[in-house]
Amino acid sequence: MAKVVFENVYKSYPGRRAEDVSVASDISIPKIEGKTNHPLQKSSNHSVSVLRNINFTVEDGEFMVLVGPSGCGKSTLLRMLAGLEELTGGNIYVGDRLVNSLPPKARDIAMVFQNYALYPHLNVYDNIAFGLRRTVNQSLKSPWLENTLTGLTRSLPKALRYLSAQEKEITKRVKYVANLLQIESLLTRLPKELSGGQKQRVALGRAIARNPQVFLMDEPLSNLDAKLRTSTRAQIVQLQRQLGTTTIYVTHDQIEAMTMGDRIAVMNEGKIQQIAPPLEIYHHPVNRFVAEFIGSPPMNFISVTYVAPLTLIHPQFRLTLPETWIKPLQGYKEKQLLLGIRPEHFSLSTSSEQNLAVVVDLVEALGNETYLSVHLAEEKNTTLQVKISGDKAIAIGESLHLAIDPHKIHLFLEDTGESVGITRVGFNK
Ligand SMILES: Nc1ncnc2c1ncn2[C@@H]1O[C@H](COP(=O)(O)OP(=O)(O)O)[C@@H](O)[C@H]1O
Ligand SMILES: [Mg+2]
Repeated sequence: MAKVVFENVYKSYPGRRAEDVSVASDISIPKIEGKTNHPLQKSSNHSVSVLRNINFTVEDGEFMVLVGPSGCGKSTLLRMLAGLEELTGGNIYVGDRLVNSLPPKARDIAMVFQNYALYPHLNVYDNIAFGLRRTVNQSLKSPWLENTLTGLTRSLPKALRYLSAQEKEITKRVKYVANLLQIESLLTRLPKELSGGQKQRVALGRAIARNPQVFLMDEPLSNLDAKLRTSTRAQIVQLQRQLGTTTIYVTHDQIEAMTMGDRIAVMNEGKIQQIAPPLEIYHHPVNRFVAEFIGSPPMNFISVTYVAPLTLIHPQFRLTLPETWIKPLQGYKEKQLLLGIRPEHFSLSTSSEQNLAVVVDLVEALGNETYLSVHLAEEKNTTLQVKISGDKAIAIGESLHLAIDPHKIHLFLEDTGESVGITRVGFNK
């Protein structure tokens, strides 16, 4: 096991067309240690910047989830750590080793891809054993003759096969992993004879068998149906706990992020936005992007004016905030701010100055809870998503009064989207 450190990591791709020229040209990209005249660095003036200023540490044994919208650079970052993509700038360490220039094989990292990448002509046993045969510990390496005999007799009936010491060790490892993932009965099948969920397990098994320092998983559940995704999610978390292997798990799914990670790193447009445990991200998002991305349905935003000491004014309502807001709001007197309210922090109430008069546009009754889409009664363009308990029947076109829990609100600066009153603990902007 080992920690993983990203230090000032940059990535840009050479631009192909004039319109590809991007912000990369005004960024001074740090030099890669031990390397000079990196080809990508040289061409950085005409390049597309994909990752910028990535600085964070994944602790030894930690389960870190990297989450962000499609195209924000998650796979690129993982591939750089795995050695499948060159760095444009910065350094990556696994444990105390600088791995920038090491080939993938030497990094002691196992990756699970979205499409599983199984060898179609090899059965499950050999798919799991394949990586082991290449990377097995030198001390276990058998003499040439033994290996040749093993290879030549591999397709013969079991009793006639020759097993080298190395192959015996591999068999032990494959069996251990097959047992762990409950795929013992599948060992002789080819990938085309497996369901999506079974393929996913084999891919996971192949990574686990290598007993690497670090697991990388790139959207490994996205090809599974919803039910299987939920159960496999839990199994991966349990396995990771059991094995204690440092893991970086990439997803665009905020539910996977919330339920799986010790910590979540939220990314957008090639930059880390916030790194924190799931509930801290949910309760204290550092900016509007994080607030909107984590939580489903997403947070609502309404433009309000702050009047000291503790009032937020909107043409349709006035909200009095708890006293804890006095300090964070110093300096924002009479300023326009964005009020953020999660759908689950509204409740049905009666007509009053602090409540919102709304009209219902859409009702999704799920039984246990009901999702509403509503608009402000006097401001048709302001729509809100509301989540309430499922026991009250609500009709489209109905007028409602919504109360906001003032202890649960968020405030953001209108221009930058930064949160008011949240300091970026442990975060490198
Ligand atoms: N080989 C490449 N050449 C140029 N641009 C690339 C290349 N690979 C990825 N990109 C770009 O890098 C960005 C990040 O891609 P990726 O890391 O795959 O995102 P994610 O995994 O978050 O969906 C995308 O805008 C993508 O178009
Ligand atoms: Mg990707």
